[in-house]
Amino acid sequence: MGKLTLRSTLQWKNLEKNYKQIKKLTLRELFKDKDRYNKFSIHDDNIRIIFDYSKNIITSSTFKLLIDFVKLSKVNEYARKMFSGEKINLTEKRAVLHTALRNRSNNPVYINGNDVMSQINSALLKMKKFSNNLRNGRWFGATGKKIVDIVNIGIGGSCLGPKMVCEALKYYADGPSIYFVSNVDGTDIYEVLKKLNPETTLFMIASKTFTTLETVTNALTARSWLTGKLGIKAIANHFVALSTNTKKVLEFGIDRQNIFELWDFVNGRCSLWASIGLSIACFVGFDKFVELLEGAHYIDQHFLNTPYEKNIPVIMAALGFWYNNFFGASAHAVLPYSQYLHVFSAYLQQNDMESNGKAINFEGKRVTYETGPIILGDVGTNCQHSFYQLFHQGTKLIPCDFIGFINPLREIGDHHEKLMASYFAQPEALAFGFTRNQVSENLKAAGFSSADIKALTPHKVFEGNKPSNSILIDKLTPKTLGALIALYEHKIFVQGIMWCVNSFDQFGVELGKTLADGILPELKGQTGKEHDNSTKNLIKLFNLRRNNMIL
Ligand code: F6P
Repeated sequence: MGKLTLRSTLQWKNLEKNYKQIKKLTLRELFKDKDRYNKFSIHDDNIRIIFDYSKNIITSSTFKLLIDFVKLSKVNEYARKMFSGEKINLTEKRAVLHTALRNRSNNPVYINGNDVMSQINSALLKMKKFSNNLRNGRWFGATGKKIVDIVNIGIGGSCLGPKMVCEALKYYADGPSIYFVSNVDGTDIYEVLKKLNPETTLFMIASKTFTTLETVTNALTARSWLTGKLGIKAIANHFVALSTNTKKVLEFGIDRQNIFELWDFVNGRCSLWASIGLSIACFVGFDKFVELLEGAHYIDQHFLNTPYEKNIPVIMAALGFWYNNFFGASAHAVLPYSQYLHVFSAYLQQNDMESNGKAINFEGKRVTYETGPIILGDVGTNCQHSFYQLFHQGTKLIPCDFIGFINPLREIGDHHEKLMASYFAQPEALAFGFTRNQVSENLKAAGFSSADIKALTPHKVFEGNKPSNSILIDKLTPKTLGALIALYEHKIFVQGIMWCVNSFDQFGVELGKTLADGILPELKGQTGKEHDNSTKNLIKLFNLRRNNMIL
């Protein structure tokens, strides 16, 4: 961008002008164009995904201007740099190569002149052997029993990715049961361990750094639980590590051959495609894990090789940018209509907000515009009975993504038709609303008095004009799930480029951790550092009451 600030570019100013015109239009008016769906939707017949973005507050000129902005941002150039192993994570001087983890073409990808595909392929082979052995009862616990339960201990990307995928693919699961422990709150691990038999339990300690307080604390608790019952030698049969930090893993006592490698070119929030996904391979089988990779690889190719105008993640990113930076929308909702995707929004919260929740641009300056939105969501239809009220009638504009499936994984009566009726109805209601006239006619027909009609009408109006995307997929399979995740990963990547922020570091999580490290001794009776008056008094009261020194 050089000396030019984003907001002073012609492309930004053109969008500003367009916004002034467009804000006077409504989706009702825009849909007078009978061809609107055809203009603003994409059908990918290979992976069988339909992306309908016609219910957005855009005209063809808006769309063109948004694409002009993407061109200005040189998204393609950055994407090629990412895929080819350039160190685009500038603050940490690292390559960003989650795309290489699912590079099913196996074309070489170089970092400092070394092809990383050979190490990725051998790590995948190790995952394959281990997951096959475990699932087929060829990996035994210390007392010779088959492993039937796996506990993944990890947090952030070392939990949310594999947890989301295991939940999403539960229908395909035919391996051991999987539990995820992440919180340092001891009740998390307690509630899991109380159900398990150490003789048949395997712990996967998932931590890229192997220094994360929550994970190390939970891992130590798991180790005491296991060795207390089976002795220290049992660690070799019951603990594996998914990590870059071999030294720390060995110090913890896990055998070298039980370490599943990870590399610093894999960002934590995109690590489910690497060894952090070992729980997935054990749960649904390695072949299905590969299908997941294939789906993501398919979208990688789509993203790299499709013109911006037909490029789904680019369009998702551009539309999010439109609302975030011109309509002042501070949040974005992701709403899957599938119970199997009940962790999807939580997963995306980390991926999106940890990536683009930044206020400093590539040049180290504070941005003068909004960046990453607040991501929220839950599964339909549950959220219709909680926060949709605000979407429909609140004062905030929350653009939504509705994700649905044509075929259910379980045909049970007419459940799926009922579910999908809501999937279609909600975007329609958001876009077109229910006018004052429609409300009063309805009330009249229901026999309300004119006084009541007058009083009630404003409360029952739906203003409409609330934008949404609809993603409609044939069926939830490992492949389509891989594709769906990759669509969002690339959307987040594109937005980071558009906002000129480094999506790949996460320094914002550090300060709280450092302060907590300083406070911990104070909660154990030692003297601590200086604090503000509020924190000091709260810690003092905590200590007094915890030690029953005052009521
Ligand atoms: O919250 C910060 C973070 O570094 C995340 O980015 C990461 O996914 C998580 O902590 C866990 O880190 P690790 O895998 O190193 O334990």
